[in-house]
Amino acid sequence: MITVNARAKVNLTLEVLGKRADGYHEIVSVLQTIDLADRLSFESGDELVFECRDPIVRRADLMGRSLVRTGELLRRQTACRKGAVIRLEALHIPRAAGLGSSSADCAAVLRGLNELWGVGLSDEDLSRLASELGSDTPFLVRGGTALAEGRGEKVSSLPALRPTRLVLLTPPIESPVHKTAQMYRALDPAAYSSGEAAQRLVSHIRQGRPLRPELIHNAFETLAFERVGEFAGHLLAAGAGRVHLAGSGPTLFALAGDEVRGQAIVNRLKERGIPSLLVTTV
Ligand code: C5P
Repeated sequence: MITVNARAKVNLTLEVLGKRADGYHEIVSVLQTIDLADRLSFESGDELVFECRDPIVRRADLMGRSLVRTGELLRRQTACRKGAVIRLEALHIPRAAGLGSSSADCAAVLRGLNELWGVGLSDEDLSRLASELGSDTPFLVRGGTALAEGRGEKVSSLPALRPTRLVLLTPPIESPVHKTAQMYRALDPAAYSSGEAAQRLVSHIRQGRPLRPELIHNAFETLAFERVGEFAGHLLAAGAGRVHLAGSGPTLFALAGDEVRGQAIVNRLKERGIPSLLVTTV
């Protein structure tokens, strides 16, 4: 049996340059994986099936279909005839929350089955295949720190960011089914930019310097804060210096400083009945 951690991501910068003819948007983004992950296991089997023993996982059927489709894509691509049981062992990443949950799970399926079936695709091959599954999936095959361009599928690795603690707060609000598409559609072109924020951050990372709040930028912030401004206020009141948006939201994050300061923010939020998490970049 093979076990794979499907790590979540945050966008340290996310700039939208403009709308493309194919309906997608041209973006430039510095992406970073964090130590918040779902866990999937892979075992040989006759057919390709999904299993989830946890009855509290909502929409496990929908999730199963997308993960099996991912396995079928790999099978077609490699002319492999093997089967497998894809099992969701633990679900920790909030869904449709800006943290790349479903894309991370699909990336984990590509990695897990590539190894289980011994089909030997390189990370680069897997990344290319992953672009058929979603814009964030190619990055999540490898993770770490990277620059993404195009619709997000052109990924260049960057030197690893120094381990940085973040407090994550996912507001308990319902996200629409096609949340990302809706956020892109609703984005005011006034929020478009040229990619400067990414350039600034990339040169900072290349110099091995620590992340600073003023280097973090997200085109969706103004739009998303209309719905989650109240929660940003809670984070600030709990001691966060600045509040940022993860992907197209609604998850918020703040640089936590050291463990003690991060834990203090989490504890103060908890006293107000608001769950949050202290995570580290990986
Ligand atoms: O690529 P993914 O399936 O995650 O994207 C979901 C939706 O978000 C797309 O169908 C598209 O409407 C929108 N999107 C976009 N530009 C991007 C990425 C996503 O317009 N770069």
